[in-house]
Amino acid sequence: MNRSDTTQDDQPARGAVVVGAGIIGLACAWEMHRAGVEVAVVDRVGPGSGTTAVAAGMLAPVGELHFGETDLLRMNLISAGRYPEFVASIERSCGTGIGYRRCGGVHVALDRDEAGELRRSHELQLRLGQGSEWLGPAAAREIEPGLAPGLAGAIRVPGDGVVDPRVLTSALVEALESERVPILTGRAVEALRRSGDRVVAVGLEGGAEIETDVVVAATGAESGRAAWLPDEVRPPVRPVKGQVVELRGDPGLSLCSGILGSERVYLVPRPDGRLIVGATSEELGFDRTVTAGAVYELLREAGRLLPDVVELEYLGARAGLRPGTPDNLPVIGPTAIPGLYLATGHYRNGILLAPFTARAIAAMVTGEATDDPVAAADPGRFETSVSGTS
Ligand code: GLY
Repeated sequence: MNRSDTTQDDQPARGAVVVGAGIIGLACAWEMHRAGVEVAVVDRVGPGSGTTAVAAGMLAPVGELHFGETDLLRMNLISAGRYPEFVASIERSCGTGIGYRRCGGVHVALDRDEAGELRRSHELQLRLGQGSEWLGPAAAREIEPGLAPGLAGAIRVPGDGVVDPRVLTSALVEALESERVPILTGRAVEALRRSGDRVVAVGLEGGAEIETDVVVAATGAESGRAAWLPDEVRPPVRPVKGQVVELRGDPGLSLCSGILGSERVYLVPRPDGRLIVGATSEELGFDRTVTAGAVYELLREAGRLLPDVVELEYLGARAGLRPGTPDNLPVIGPTAIPGLYLATGHYRNGILLAPFTARAIAAMVTGEATDDPVAAADPGRFETSVSGTS
């Protein structure tokens, strides 16, 4: 494996194993590979089989901005800015287009109460220096003619974008495979082997081991119950269920040109005519049941926003588990165990934060300096001492 790498205590690294082949794990593998690290990826099911396959793929640092989340905004903006280069690097290697689009978004208030809320979001966006324009009903319907006629006001966020996470995942897998980065699927990691404190291998189900100096846990919503992670560094990540509905119309007659949002629902158009309607937010542990009530509510709210959705073909609904953290910030960086890194806890922003996370992990693993505001995501903020005190 590449011998110029260093781990967080400056020992030469023999390469890295990424545990988890969701978008974060694959992106980390890609950036480490590009930085010259010899990488392998292990996943207990297969690439993109978890939350990544359910995510709508909104790249919306401004449209999804919430009060009190300025550290997250900084990370999200940097990551959104890196998307074009990140996507281009993958496209160059796999030879197919990923369909990333900076299409902007329109966020709509459907009544006067919602307009008050939306005004406050708009003021926050302006206060933080973000591109956002207040639109009256007629102006909003000029941009998106399918919007409900009775809307009370809207915001246009021109800089937000979209990508299909499943297309991005396939492209990443192709790119990694074309560069001979092994992706081991159907292999659960069961143990972290250490010599002294330092990581020396991961143990797989069935007894095999992969020797490595660096392990990156990109285990998403499973992170909080990943038994192979030592207690003192296992992050307090909890699953937050999100259900989405998938519809399809004529690709030439798309009902909207970019992201549409209301207080209760968002709509994300795909170039092939599909429309993703998301998403619920439910604290139900590891439950992934698709419920009639959620599908009903998502479709009802989608219809209030964009009445013609009722004409679309219903393709199905899915449930995924967002990896939530107590402070809504991701967990990115080295742990107290030399050689073990975390790249998880991305909650509502996993697809968006993939380039940021991957670059940060690659820089840390290779010992490069980074100017990125990644300190707020330091795993140390959640670590406990071995005796269990914070
Ligand atoms: N970022 C959208 C969601 O988590 O539902």
